[in-house]
Amino acid sequence: MGLLKTLLVGRPNGLRAQLRGILGLTKATSEGSPSTGEKGSTPPPPNSPTHEPAEKALRLNKEAPRDVTPPAGYEVVLHKDALEPGKIIEVIIGGTAIAVARVGNEYFAISNKCPHADGPLGEGTLDGHIVSCPYHGWTFDVRDGACKTNPYALVPSYPVQVVGTAVCVKM
Ligand code: FES
Repeated sequence: MGLLKTLLVGRPNGLRAQLRGILGLTKATSEGSPSTGEKGSTPPPPNSPTHEPAEKALRLNKEAPRDVTPPAGYEVVLHKDALEPGKIIEVIIGGTAIAVARVGNEYFAISNKCPHADGPLGEGTLDGHIVSCPYHGWTFDVRDGACKTNPYALVPSYPVQVVGTAVCVKM
């Protein structure tokens, strides 16, 4: 049976095993596969805690700059290239969640908390200057926090300045 298995799936450290490892198809076995920690050239499987998706690696290159001194009262919240035009993101500053939006090359910041039922506006969709709450669709203007769905609702908006590569928000 061992010979038949070797013929069908290859040796534990053979070329086919290495290809399975590269493609993330490796299963942990008791026969010394690459996922058991043996020294080899195969990367860890995708669900391994040491495996970092390429997307995360890209984000690490766009961390909020630490070498920028923000204007008085402002805090650096993110790298200006960390947010593509037409996108909105949730950022935690001093324990408070805010939503930072980019429209063209302008940045805006409003509260992350929808007044309807606490929906996370930073997870909403942005259309021009209008963000739609992901929960029930109320819409807000990211320039001033005005609610377009309910004229009596409003979310706080915060001044934003870009200094070098840093997006800075005054809370
Ligand atoms: S929580 Fe935002 S629309 Fe309902």
